[in-house]
Amino acid sequence: MICLGIETSCDETSIAVIERKTDLSLPTILYHKIFTQDEHIKFGGVVPEVASRGHLQILPAMFQDFIDNSKVKMKDISHIATTTGPGLIGCLTVGSQFGKGLALANDIPFISVNHIKAHILSVKINNKIDFPYVAILTSGGHCQIILVNGYNDMTILSATADDSAGEVLDKVARMLNLSPPNGATIEECADEFTTSNEKLLENLFKQPKFKIENTMSFSGFKSKARQFINQHPNILKDDKLKSDFCKTFQVAVFKHIIETTSNSIVKLDGIDTIAIVGGVAKNKLLLTSLKNKIPNYNIVAPPPNLCTDNGAMIAFAGIEKVCSVDNFDTELCATSRSNWSVEE
Ligand code: KG4
Ligand code: ZN
Repeated sequence: MICLGIETSCDETSIAVIERKTDLSLPTILYHKIFTQDEHIKFGGVVPEVASRGHLQILPAMFQDFIDNSKVKMKDISHIATTTGPGLIGCLTVGSQFGKGLALANDIPFISVNHIKAHILSVKINNKIDFPYVAILTSGGHCQIILVNGYNDMTILSATADDSAGEVLDKVARMLNLSPPNGATIEECADEFTTSNEKLLENLFKQPKFKIENTMSFSGFKSKARQFINQHPNILKDDKLKSDFCKTFQVAVFKHIIETTSNSIVKLDGIDTIAIVGGVAKNKLLLTSLKNKIPNYNIVAPPPNLCTDNGAMIAFAGIEKVCSVDNFDTELCATSRSNWSVEE
């Protein structure tokens, strides 16, 4: 199968082509381009209308570039997969209408892909792992721990009751005037940490155990950060304090994810692999902490460019979806959905 994938659910526009020769072999990425819209930085977050207009402009140009410069030709493509949810509805509509138009014009089956499932499966692009495995999905919009038995069989073991970890990283980065305000700049800032503010920051993010079983909560970290920054406004100019604060904050957020994962997996039989996926999986501290704290499991992650939103994971999820059902036809009638659970 050779599948073209289109991703436009938020502020990344991406086109990729993936080939998988057999169910047992790793796929090959034949083409992959990702464009990140940066006009949202000045607003401090993604503006949905601006994002959809951005996709409308960029996607046809990216597709033309694919036609002009890729070694893969349209006649080689066997399927077209597009994100149809969850995400920003205007953005999803741009991508899925484009994908459906292409599918119709070229008489190729259209595959409607769930963006979250694509993140969860993205780890199989570079790692030879089998179902079942447990995925920690930590992105800007979601934080969930999921038992993955196959494309059509995923169960949420734990989820956040409020913000996602990525959202809290983004909001705190904004409070600290980091640019661009996101988890990557928090990570960069934390890399410069010292030990000079240990006492001051020691108990800052200690939070009482969250009472509801199988539930995470990140909004408390955000409130504690806000209080600390208000009480210590010098942090905005004191680079050492900023780095130490970022390090302490990251450690606390990741400890909560890792402890919840440990609690979720103890009850499961037959699981030896834990995948960390989604934008926050790019974080090196999170990956090494997971390996240290949960040593008896095979911990895997996609390469950094496949952690954040990308078309390759959509193309790959399309292939997995087609292989998971008998006689896959086409899904031209699929509608875009802002909410779409992996359990549906
Ligand atoms: O998966 P993604 O690209 O978009 C969604 O589907 O939401 O994830 C974006 C999230 C943002 O919250 C961003 O701050 C976070 O991934 N992120 C990181 C890093 N790079 C991106 N978080 C921690 N460390 C990073 N290096
Ligand atoms: Zn995503």
